[in-house]
Amino acid sequence: KIISYQSGIAFPKLPVRPVPMETMLEPTSRNPDDNVIVPHCHSFPYLYTKIRDCKTSNKDFALYASRILRILAEEAVGMVPSSPCSIQTPTNTTYAGMRALDDENSLCVVSILRAGDALMEAVRSVVPQAAVAKILIQRDESSEEKLPKLFYSKIPSDVNSRFCILCDPMLATGGSALCALSILIQEGQVPPDNIIFVCVVAAPEGIRAVHTRHPEVKIVTGAIDTGLNEDKYIVPGLGDFGDRWYNTT
Ligand code: PRP
Ligand code: URA
Repeated sequence: KIISYQSGIAFPKLPVRPVPMETMLEPTSRNPDDNVIVPHCHSFPYLYTKIRDCKTSNKDFALYASRILRILAEEAVGMVPSSPCSIQTPTNTTYAGMRALDDENSLCVVSILRAGDALMEAVRSVVPQAAVAKILIQRDESSEEKLPKLFYSKIPSDVNSRFCILCDPMLATGGSALCALSILIQEGQVPPDNIIFVCVVAAPEGIRAVHTRHPEVKIVTGAIDTGLNEDKYIVPGLGDFGDRWYNTT
């Protein structure tokens, strides 16, 4: 069975990969218009096993997670609209190719701090000319709903004319993602269908929360897990991405 979906209008079809039963999306979310994309990568089962394993050291977590981040960054950047072009190869042959992101002003990569910076840097390593926006949001772990708290945001004044890749490795309740999206969409006036949200692991609850409010936002995730536990942590999940990445536990 497959669970890779996309709008099919503005973006080319991506290959799909089988996933274990326990990571299947629930039927209500299994709609081809859901704008959820799970990229295919043969290394993912191995890499995800490494980052999910509680015995993996923080040093190794960063190593294996960075490989995943780079793959997801490439996928997200590859979804930004591109245009056909014609080039000459060294064999003096014409090749009908695609040109993407030649315009320096076309992309903004948005980091939900703190963990989003890891993914943001992966996107920047692919597209160094991208503008960077930062939004500091922290879950309030003392609240029952783990409500997001917004501390700071800095977005470029021309963000509404850019395609946005919003980065946060974990989509749990969706509270942090929705908070960042409201800044981009309400304050920044970014059209929702110009936004790709990228994460390493998503819970079905988070996907539903984002798409209930903003169905046009595309979600690229390497894994869709079973759900949330009583602390609103993703299960099976990988624990706290930020703490493991920054070696703070
Ligand atoms: C984590 C994660 C997301 C958020 C996801 O950040 O990086 O931002 O939680 O949870 P949600 O979907 O329920 O909002 P956290 O607030 O722990 O901060 P950190 O980046 O400093 O680890
Ligand atoms: N933040 C994380 O880092 N992990 C979760 O599972 C939920 C929120």
